[in-house]
Amino acid sequence: MIEFDFSFVFKPNVENGLEKSEIDSLKGEIEEAVKALRENPPGFLRIINDADVLGQVKELEEWIATFDDFVVVGIGGSGLGNQALHNALRPLNWNFLDRNSRNGYCRVFVMDNVDPDFVSSILQTIDPKRTVFNVISKSGSTAEAMANYLIVRNLLETLGLDPKEHIVFTTDPEKGALRKIAKEEGFKVLDVPPDVGGRFSVLTQVGLLSAMAEGIDIDALHEGAEKAKERCLETDIWKNPAALIAAVHYLFFKKGRNISVMMPYSNRLYSLADWYRQLWAESLGKRLSLDGKVIKTGQTPVKALGATDQHSQIQLYNEGPDDKVITFIALKKYPSDVLIGNIHPDQDALSYLGRKKLSQLITSEYEGTKSALAQNGRPNMSVIMDKINEENIGQFFVTYECATVIAGKLFNVNPYDQPGVELGKKITYALMGRKGYEEFEKTVTIKERIVL
Ligand code: PA5
Repeated sequence: MIEFDFSFVFKPNVENGLEKSEIDSLKGEIEEAVKALRENPPGFLRIINDADVLGQVKELEEWIATFDDFVVVGIGGSGLGNQALHNALRPLNWNFLDRNSRNGYCRVFVMDNVDPDFVSSILQTIDPKRTVFNVISKSGSTAEAMANYLIVRNLLETLGLDPKEHIVFTTDPEKGALRKIAKEEGFKVLDVPPDVGGRFSVLTQVGLLSAMAEGIDIDALHEGAEKAKERCLETDIWKNPAALIAAVHYLFFKKGRNISVMMPYSNRLYSLADWYRQLWAESLGKRLSLDGKVIKTGQTPVKALGATDQHSQIQLYNEGPDDKVITFIALKKYPSDVLIGNIHPDQDALSYLGRKKLSQLITSEYEGTKSALAQNGRPNMSVIMDKINEENIGQFFVTYECATVIAGKLFNVNPYDQPGVELGKKITYALMGRKGYEEFEKTVTIKERIVL
Protein backbone atom coordinates (compact mmCIF):
# COMPACT_ATOMS: atom_id res chain seq x y z
CA MET A 1 0.00 0.00 0.00
CA ILE A 2 1.18 3.51 -0.81
CA GLU A 3 -0.11 6.66 0.83
CA PHE A 4 0.45 10.10 -0.60
CA ASP A 5 0.62 12.69 2.16
CA PHE A 6 0.08 16.28 1.04
CA SER A 7 -0.33 17.75 4.55
CA PHE A 8 2.68 20.03 4.28
CA VAL A 9 1.75 21.29 0.85
CA PHE A 10 -1.22 23.36 1.96
CA LYS A 11 -1.87 26.43 4.09
CA PRO A 12 -2.13 26.82 7.06
CA ASN A 13 0.09 23.76 7.73
CA VAL A 14 2.89 25.46 5.84
CA GLU A 15 3.14 29.21 5.51
CA ASN A 16 4.12 29.31 1.85
CA GLY A 17 1.75 26.52 0.99
CA LEU A 18 -1.00 26.36 -1.57
CA GLU A 19 -4.67 27.15 -1.13
CA LYS A 20 -6.86 24.20 -2.05
CA SER A 21 -8.70 26.52 -4.42
CA GLU A 22 -5.50 26.82 -6.48
CA ILE A 23 -5.63 23.09 -7.15
CA ASP A 24 -9.31 23.43 -8.07
CA SER A 25 -8.43 26.13 -10.56
CA LEU A 26 -6.56 23.50 -12.62
CA LYS A 27 -9.55 21.16 -12.63
CA GLY A 28 -10.45 21.71 -16.27
CA GLU A 29 -6.96 21.12 -17.65
CA ILE A 30 -6.37 18.13 -15.40
CA GLU A 31 -9.66 16.53 -16.29
CA GLU A 32 -8.73 16.91 -19.94
CA ALA A 33 -5.31 15.33 -19.35
CA VAL A 34 -6.80 12.41 -17.41
CA LYS A 35 -9.51 11.93 -20.01
CA ALA A 36 -6.82 11.72 -22.68
CA LEU A 37 -4.97 9.07 -20.63
CA ARG A 38 -8.20 7.13 -20.27
CA GLU A 39 -9.45 7.36 -23.82
CA ASN A 40 -6.16 7.10 -25.59
CA PRO A 41 -3.91 5.22 -23.15
CA PRO A 42 -0.23 5.80 -23.80
CA GLY A 43 1.96 2.75 -24.29
CA PHE A 44 3.17 2.67 -20.69
CA LEU A 45 -0.44 2.11 -19.53
CA ARG A 46 -1.38 -0.18 -22.40
CA ILE A 47 1.40 -2.65 -21.56
CA ILE A 48 0.21 -3.27 -17.99
CA ASN A 49 -0.64 -6.98 -17.68
CA ASP A 50 -0.10 -7.35 -21.41
CA ALA A 51 0.29 -11.05 -22.13
CA ASP A 52 2.79 -10.48 -24.93
CA VAL A 53 5.08 -8.31 -22.79
CA LEU A 54 5.09 -10.70 -19.84
CA GLY A 55 5.12 -13.75 -22.11
CA GLN A 56 8.20 -12.67 -24.07
CA VAL A 57 10.10 -12.24 -20.83
CA LYS A 58 8.96 -15.48 -19.21
CA GLU A 59 9.87 -17.46 -22.31
CA LEU A 60 13.52 -16.87 -21.40
CA GLU A 61 13.17 -17.92 -17.75
CA GLU A 62 14.67 -21.39 -18.11
CA TRP A 63 17.54 -20.20 -20.27
CA ILE A 64 18.43 -17.42 -17.83
CA ALA A 65 18.32 -19.82 -14.89
CA THR A 66 21.41 -21.53 -16.32
CA PHE A 67 23.54 -18.40 -15.66
CA ASP A 68 25.04 -16.87 -12.53
CA ASP A 69 25.28 -13.26 -13.65
CA PHE A 70 23.10 -10.94 -15.69
CA VAL A 71 24.56 -7.75 -17.12
CA VAL A 72 22.28 -5.03 -18.48
CA VAL A 73 23.99 -3.08 -21.25
CA GLY A 74 21.95 0.09 -21.78
CA ILE A 75 21.70 3.71 -20.72
CA GLY A 76 19.03 6.26 -19.72
CA GLY A 77 15.59 4.68 -19.90
CA SER A 78 17.30 1.44 -20.90
CA GLY A 79 19.12 1.13 -17.58
CA LEU A 80 17.74 3.37 -14.84
CA GLY A 81 14.60 1.30 -14.28
CA ASN A 82 16.64 -1.92 -14.13
CA GLN A 83 18.89 -0.38 -11.49
CA ALA A 84 15.94 0.96 -9.51
CA LEU A 85 14.25 -2.47 -9.51
CA HIS A 86 17.48 -4.19 -8.53
CA ASN A 87 18.26 -1.85 -5.67
CA ALA A 88 14.70 -1.69 -4.33
CA LEU A 89 13.61 -5.28 -4.59
CA ARG A 90 16.78 -7.23 -3.79
CA PRO A 91 18.75 -6.96 -0.57
CA LEU A 92 21.46 -4.31 -0.74
CA ASN A 93 24.15 -7.01 -0.52
CA TRP A 94 22.59 -9.20 -3.25
CA ASN A 95 25.62 -9.17 -5.54
CA PHE A 96 27.83 -10.23 -2.63
CA LEU A 97 25.72 -13.29 -1.79
CA ASP A 98 26.55 -16.77 -3.05
CA ARG A 99 24.23 -18.57 -5.44
CA ASN A 100 22.52 -20.59 -2.71
CA SER A 101 21.71 -17.51 -0.68
CA ARG A 102 20.32 -15.97 -3.87
CA ASN A 103 18.04 -19.01 -4.29
CA GLY A 104 19.81 -19.75 -7.57
CA TYR A 105 18.96 -16.38 -9.10
CA CYS A 106 21.46 -14.16 -10.93
CA ARG A 107 23.53 -11.30 -9.67
CA VAL A 108 22.59 -8.21 -11.70
CA PHE A 109 24.93 -5.47 -12.92
CA VAL A 110 23.84 -2.45 -14.94
CA MET A 111 26.52 -1.27 -17.36
CA ASP A 112 25.06 2.17 -18.00
CA ASN A 113 28.17 4.20 -18.63
CA VAL A 114 31.22 4.19 -20.84
CA ASP A 115 33.65 5.07 -18.08
CA PRO A 116 36.36 2.53 -18.96
CA ASP A 117 37.15 1.94 -15.33
CA PHE A 118 33.51 1.15 -14.52
CA VAL A 119 33.12 -1.18 -17.49
CA SER A 120 36.39 -3.00 -16.69
CA SER A 121 35.34 -3.43 -13.08
CA ILE A 122 32.11 -5.20 -14.10
CA LEU A 123 33.91 -7.36 -16.63
CA GLN A 124 36.49 -8.32 -14.01
CA THR A 125 33.78 -9.25 -11.52
CA ILE A 126 31.70 -11.56 -13.70
CA ASP A 127 32.64 -14.84 -15.35
CA PRO A 128 31.65 -14.39 -19.04
CA LYS A 129 31.08 -18.15 -19.39
CA ARG A 130 28.36 -17.92 -16.72
CA THR A 131 26.89 -14.57 -17.78
CA VAL A 132 23.99 -13.38 -19.87
CA PHE A 133 24.31 -9.90 -21.37
CA ASN A 134 21.07 -8.07 -22.11
CA VAL A 135 21.84 -5.33 -24.62
CA ILE A 136 18.94 -2.89 -24.38
CA SER A 137 18.47 -0.03 -26.81
CA LYS A 138 15.15 0.99 -28.28
CA SER A 139 16.82 2.90 -31.11
CA GLY A 140 19.58 0.35 -31.52
CA SER A 141 22.02 3.17 -32.10
CA THR A 142 22.89 4.78 -28.77
CA ALA A 143 26.67 5.15 -28.77
CA GLU A 144 27.23 4.09 -25.16
CA ALA A 145 25.11 0.95 -25.42
CA MET A 146 26.56 0.04 -28.82
CA ALA A 147 30.15 0.50 -27.62
CA ASN A 148 29.55 -1.72 -24.61
CA TYR A 149 27.80 -4.30 -26.78
CA LEU A 150 30.85 -4.43 -29.05
CA ILE A 151 33.14 -4.77 -26.04
CA VAL A 152 31.08 -7.58 -24.55
CA ARG A 153 30.73 -9.44 -27.83
CA ASN A 154 34.42 -9.09 -28.55
CA LEU A 155 35.22 -10.49 -25.11
CA LEU A 156 32.93 -13.47 -25.65
CA GLU A 157 34.39 -14.19 -29.07
CA THR A 158 37.94 -13.82 -27.81
CA LEU A 159 37.17 -16.43 -25.16
CA GLY A 160 35.81 -18.76 -27.84
CA LEU A 161 32.23 -18.42 -26.56
CA ASP A 162 29.25 -18.20 -28.90
CA PRO A 163 27.77 -14.69 -28.46
CA LYS A 164 24.32 -16.05 -29.35
CA GLU A 165 24.49 -18.23 -26.24
CA HIS A 166 25.20 -15.23 -24.03
CA ILE A 167 23.55 -12.14 -25.51
CA VAL A 168 19.90 -11.20 -25.72
CA PHE A 169 18.87 -7.94 -27.35
CA THR A 170 15.91 -5.79 -26.32
CA THR A 171 15.07 -3.35 -29.07
CA ASP A 172 12.45 -1.96 -31.44
CA PRO A 173 10.50 -4.77 -33.16
CA GLU A 174 11.34 -3.46 -36.64
CA LYS A 175 13.90 -0.70 -36.70
CA GLY A 176 17.55 -0.19 -35.82
CA ALA A 177 20.88 -1.96 -36.03
CA LEU A 178 20.26 -4.37 -33.15
CA ARG A 179 17.10 -5.73 -34.72
CA LYS A 180 18.95 -6.18 -38.01
CA ILE A 181 21.85 -8.00 -36.31
CA ALA A 182 19.43 -10.19 -34.36
CA LYS A 183 17.56 -11.13 -37.54
CA GLU A 184 20.66 -11.75 -39.63
CA GLU A 185 22.56 -13.73 -37.01
CA GLY A 186 19.75 -15.38 -35.08
CA PHE A 187 20.20 -13.74 -31.67
CA LYS A 188 17.52 -13.96 -29.02
CA VAL A 189 15.62 -10.70 -29.02
CA LEU A 190 12.80 -9.05 -27.08
CA ASP A 191 10.71 -6.10 -28.23
CA VAL A 192 10.59 -2.62 -26.82
CA PRO A 193 6.96 -1.76 -27.58
CA PRO A 194 7.12 1.03 -30.20
CA ASP A 195 4.54 3.11 -28.33
CA VAL A 196 6.60 3.20 -25.11
CA GLY A 197 9.39 5.75 -24.82
CA GLY A 198 12.66 4.86 -23.08
CA ARG A 199 12.04 6.57 -19.74
CA PHE A 200 8.51 5.12 -19.56
CA SER A 201 9.66 1.57 -20.34
CA VAL A 202 10.59 0.11 -16.95
CA LEU A 203 7.59 -2.23 -16.86
CA THR A 204 8.11 -3.50 -20.40
CA GLN A 205 10.61 -6.11 -21.55
CA VAL A 206 13.27 -3.43 -20.86
CA GLY A 207 13.00 -3.63 -17.08
CA LEU A 208 11.37 -7.01 -16.62
CA LEU A 209 14.00 -9.41 -17.94
CA SER A 210 16.74 -8.40 -15.50
CA ALA A 211 14.12 -8.27 -12.74
CA MET A 212 13.00 -11.83 -13.46
CA ALA A 213 16.63 -12.96 -13.64
CA GLU A 214 17.12 -11.97 -10.01
CA GLY A 215 13.86 -13.47 -8.77
CA ILE A 216 11.66 -10.37 -8.67
CA ASP A 217 7.97 -11.21 -9.11
CA ILE A 218 7.18 -9.45 -12.38
CA ASP A 219 3.47 -10.33 -12.21
CA ALA A 220 3.20 -8.59 -8.84
CA LEU A 221 4.93 -5.53 -10.32
CA HIS A 222 2.19 -5.41 -12.93
CA GLU A 223 -0.53 -5.96 -10.33
CA GLY A 224 0.75 -2.87 -8.51
CA ALA A 225 0.88 -1.02 -11.81
CA GLU A 226 -2.75 -1.95 -12.51
CA LYS A 227 -3.83 -0.66 -9.12
CA ALA A 228 -2.06 2.64 -9.67
CA LYS A 229 -3.52 2.90 -13.15
CA GLU A 230 -7.04 2.80 -11.73
CA ARG A 231 -6.25 5.54 -9.22
CA CYS A 232 -4.44 7.70 -11.75
CA LEU A 233 -7.31 7.57 -14.23
CA GLU A 234 -9.71 8.95 -11.64
CA THR A 235 -11.06 12.27 -12.95
CA ASP A 236 -11.65 13.73 -9.48
CA ILE A 237 -8.35 15.50 -8.89
CA TRP A 238 -8.60 15.04 -5.10
CA LYS A 239 -8.74 11.26 -5.51
CA ASN A 240 -5.99 11.00 -8.10
CA PRO A 241 -2.42 10.98 -6.70
CA ALA A 242 -0.81 11.55 -10.10
CA ALA A 243 -3.01 14.56 -10.78
CA LEU A 244 -2.26 16.03 -7.37
CA ILE A 245 1.49 15.48 -7.72
CA ALA A 246 1.41 17.18 -11.13
CA ALA A 247 -0.77 20.07 -9.94
CA VAL A 248 1.25 20.69 -6.78
CA HIS A 249 4.56 20.74 -8.65
CA TYR A 250 3.20 22.93 -11.41
CA LEU A 251 1.63 25.46 -9.04
CA PHE A 252 4.79 25.69 -6.96
CA PHE A 253 6.88 26.00 -10.12
CA LYS A 254 4.75 28.99 -11.09
CA LYS A 255 5.62 30.51 -7.71
CA GLY A 256 9.35 30.15 -8.31
CA ARG A 257 9.95 26.67 -6.95
CA ASN A 258 11.90 25.40 -9.91
CA ILE A 259 13.62 22.55 -8.09
CA SER A 260 11.96 19.26 -7.23
CA VAL A 261 13.85 17.27 -4.63
CA MET A 262 13.13 13.58 -4.13
CA MET A 263 14.51 12.27 -0.85
CA PRO A 264 13.89 8.63 0.04
CA TYR A 265 14.58 7.62 3.64
CA SER A 266 15.82 4.25 2.44
CA ASN A 267 19.02 3.20 0.68
CA ARG A 268 17.05 0.62 -1.26
CA LEU A 269 14.70 3.27 -2.62
CA TYR A 270 17.40 5.82 -3.45
CA SER A 271 17.54 4.71 -7.09
CA LEU A 272 13.83 5.51 -7.47
CA ALA A 273 14.97 9.12 -7.21
CA ASP A 274 17.45 8.52 -10.05
CA TRP A 275 14.67 7.06 -12.16
CA TYR A 276 12.38 9.99 -11.31
CA ARG A 277 15.18 12.47 -12.07
CA GLN A 278 15.33 11.30 -15.68
CA LEU A 279 11.57 11.11 -16.06
CA TRP A 280 10.89 14.60 -14.72
CA ALA A 281 13.89 16.25 -16.39
CA GLU A 282 13.70 14.79 -19.89
CA SER A 283 9.93 14.92 -20.09
CA LEU A 284 9.32 18.45 -18.84
CA GLY A 285 12.56 20.31 -19.55
CA LYS A 286 11.68 21.82 -22.92
CA ARG A 287 12.52 24.85 -25.06
CA LEU A 288 9.28 24.82 -27.01
CA SER A 289 5.67 24.73 -25.92
CA LEU A 290 3.16 22.49 -27.65
CA ASP A 291 2.19 25.45 -29.81
CA GLY A 292 5.79 26.12 -30.84
CA LYS A 293 6.58 29.11 -28.58
CA VAL A 294 10.01 29.38 -26.96
CA ILE A 295 9.32 28.87 -23.24
CA LYS A 296 12.48 27.19 -21.89
CA THR A 297 10.57 25.53 -19.09
CA GLY A 298 11.11 22.65 -16.66
CA GLN A 299 11.66 21.92 -13.01
CA THR A 300 15.09 20.62 -12.05
CA PRO A 301 14.87 17.31 -10.22
CA VAL A 302 17.40 16.73 -7.48
CA LYS A 303 17.95 13.59 -5.44
CA ALA A 304 18.88 13.31 -1.81
CA LEU A 305 19.07 10.45 0.66
CA GLY A 306 17.59 10.50 4.13
CA ALA A 307 18.96 10.52 6.75
CA THR A 308 22.45 10.86 5.20
CA ASP A 309 21.78 14.13 3.39
CA GLN A 310 20.35 15.81 6.47
CA HIS A 311 24.04 16.41 7.10
CA SER A 312 24.63 17.72 3.59
CA GLN A 313 21.51 19.33 2.07
CA ILE A 314 18.97 20.12 4.78
CA GLN A 315 20.62 23.34 5.93
CA LEU A 316 20.16 24.66 2.39
CA TYR A 317 16.62 23.33 2.07
CA ASN A 318 15.58 24.98 5.36
CA GLU A 319 17.27 28.33 5.04
CA GLY A 320 18.51 28.78 1.49
CA PRO A 321 16.58 30.01 -1.55
CA ASP A 322 12.89 29.26 -1.28
CA ASP A 323 12.88 27.48 -4.65
CA LYS A 324 12.16 23.83 -3.89
CA VAL A 325 9.31 21.36 -3.54
CA ILE A 326 10.48 18.34 -1.60
CA THR A 327 9.11 14.82 -1.89
CA PHE A 328 10.07 12.36 0.80
CA ILE A 329 9.73 8.64 0.32
CA ALA A 330 9.12 7.04 3.69
CA LEU A 331 8.70 3.45 4.81
CA LYS A 332 6.43 2.11 7.52
CA LYS A 333 8.35 -1.14 7.77
CA TYR A 334 11.98 -1.60 6.77
CA PRO A 335 13.00 -4.93 5.21
CA SER A 336 15.28 -5.57 8.18
CA ASP A 337 16.00 -3.85 11.47
CA VAL A 338 18.89 -3.39 13.86
CA LEU A 339 18.79 -3.02 17.61
CA ILE A 340 20.97 -0.28 19.06
CA GLY A 341 23.16 -1.43 21.96
CA ASN A 342 22.68 0.07 25.39
CA ILE A 343 26.33 0.58 26.24
CA HIS A 344 26.48 4.02 27.92
CA PRO A 345 23.37 4.49 30.11
CA ASP A 346 25.09 7.35 31.93
CA GLN A 347 25.95 9.39 28.82
CA ASP A 348 23.03 11.63 27.87
CA ALA A 349 24.22 12.01 24.29
CA LEU A 350 23.99 8.25 23.76
CA SER A 351 21.72 6.71 26.37
CA TYR A 352 18.41 7.72 24.72
CA LEU A 353 19.40 5.59 21.71
CA GLY A 354 20.07 2.41 23.65
CA ARG A 355 17.58 -0.48 23.19
CA LYS A 356 15.82 1.41 20.37
CA LYS A 357 15.75 0.20 16.79
CA LEU A 358 17.39 1.94 13.85
CA SER A 359 13.99 2.00 12.10
CA GLN A 360 12.71 4.21 14.92
CA LEU A 361 15.66 6.55 14.58
CA ILE A 362 15.41 6.94 10.80
CA THR A 363 11.62 7.37 10.98
CA SER A 364 11.98 10.02 13.67
CA GLU A 365 14.54 11.78 11.50
CA TYR A 366 12.11 11.79 8.58
CA GLU A 367 9.33 13.14 10.81
CA GLY A 368 11.65 15.76 12.28
CA THR A 369 12.95 16.88 8.90
CA LYS A 370 9.58 17.26 7.21
CA SER A 371 8.11 19.12 10.20
CA ALA A 372 11.11 21.43 10.48
CA LEU A 373 10.88 22.23 6.78
CA ALA A 374 7.17 22.94 7.14
CA GLN A 375 7.81 25.19 10.14
CA ASN A 376 10.31 27.08 8.01
CA GLY A 377 7.65 27.56 5.35
CA ARG A 378 9.15 24.95 3.02
CA PRO A 379 6.44 22.83 1.36
CA ASN A 380 6.95 19.10 1.19
CA MET A 381 4.98 15.95 0.49
CA SER A 382 5.52 12.29 1.26
CA VAL A 383 5.08 9.02 -0.54
CA ILE A 384 4.69 6.47 2.25
CA MET A 385 5.03 2.77 1.49
CA ASP A 386 3.91 0.23 4.09
CA LYS A 387 6.85 -1.93 2.96
CA ILE A 388 9.11 -2.50 -0.01
CA ASN A 389 7.55 -5.01 -2.33
CA GLU A 390 6.82 -5.48 -6.02
CA GLU A 391 3.29 -4.18 -5.78
CA ASN A 392 4.31 -0.89 -4.20
CA ILE A 393 7.19 -0.35 -6.60
CA GLY A 394 4.93 -1.04 -9.59
CA GLN A 395 2.46 1.49 -8.18
CA PHE A 396 5.17 4.05 -7.68
CA PHE A 397 6.37 3.81 -11.29
CA VAL A 398 2.93 4.17 -12.84
CA THR A 399 1.87 6.97 -10.52
CA TYR A 400 4.92 9.03 -11.44
CA GLU A 401 4.62 8.21 -15.14
CA CYS A 402 1.02 9.46 -15.10
CA ALA A 403 2.01 12.49 -13.00
CA THR A 404 4.66 13.35 -15.59
CA VAL A 405 2.22 13.19 -18.48
CA ILE A 406 -0.36 15.27 -16.60
CA ALA A 407 2.38 17.76 -15.71
CA GLY A 408 3.27 17.84 -19.41
CA LYS A 409 -0.24 19.10 -20.09
CA LEU A 410 0.08 21.80 -17.40
CA PHE A 411 3.54 22.88 -18.51
CA ASN A 412 2.18 22.78 -22.08
CA VAL A 413 5.04 20.61 -23.39
CA ASN A 414 5.39 17.26 -25.09
CA PRO A 415 6.51 14.89 -22.32
CA TYR A 416 7.51 12.14 -24.74
CA ASP A 417 10.28 13.74 -26.81
CA GLN A 418 13.84 14.84 -26.00
CA PRO A 419 15.10 17.03 -28.85
CA GLY A 420 17.63 18.69 -26.57
CA VAL A 421 19.90 15.65 -26.42
CA GLU A 422 20.43 15.43 -30.19
CA LEU A 423 23.13 18.05 -30.79
CA GLY A 424 25.50 16.62 -28.19
CA LYS A 425 25.05 13.17 -29.73
CA LYS A 426 25.86 14.50 -33.19
CA ILE A 427 29.03 16.26 -32.03
CA THR A 428 30.11 13.02 -30.32
CA TYR A 429 29.48 11.07 -33.52
CA ALA A 430 31.60 13.64 -35.42
CA LEU A 431 34.42 13.41 -32.88
CA MET A 432 34.30 9.61 -33.10
CA GLY A 433 34.48 9.75 -36.91
CA ARG A 434 30.95 8.54 -37.72
CA LYS A 435 30.17 9.06 -41.40
CA GLY A 436 27.68 11.79 -42.23
CA TYR A 437 28.33 13.87 -39.10
CA GLU A 438 31.55 15.67 -40.21
CA GLU A 439 29.94 19.14 -40.15
CA PHE A 440 29.28 18.90 -36.40
CA GLU A 441 32.98 18.63 -35.56
CA LYS A 442 33.32 22.27 -36.60
CA THR A 443 31.06 23.33 -33.76
CA VAL A 444 33.62 22.18 -31.20
CA THR A 445 35.96 25.06 -30.50
CA ILE A 446 37.75 25.82 -27.28
CA LYS A 447 37.77 29.59 -26.98
CA GLU A 448 39.44 29.93 -23.65
CA ARG A 449 41.24 27.59 -21.38
CA ILE A 450 43.07 28.25 -18.17
CA VAL A 451 45.74 25.66 -17.54
CA LEU A 452 47.09 25.63 -14.01
O1 PA5 B 1 13.85 8.36 -22.43
C1 PA5 B 1 14.49 8.20 -23.45
O2 PA5 B 1 13.95 8.00 -24.55
C2 PA5 B 1 16.00 8.19 -23.43
O3 PA5 B 1 16.51 8.55 -22.18
C3 PA5 B 1 16.52 6.81 -23.81
O4 PA5 B 1 16.04 5.85 -22.91
C4 PA5 B 1 18.05 6.75 -23.85
O5 PA5 B 1 18.55 7.77 -24.63
C5 PA5 B 1 18.50 5.40 -24.40
O6 PA5 B 1 17.94 5.21 -25.67
P1 PA5 B 1 17.97 3.80 -26.37
O7 PA5 B 1 17.12 2.88 -25.63
O8 PA5 B 1 17.44 4.08 -27.75
O9 PA5 B 1 19.40 3.35 -26.42
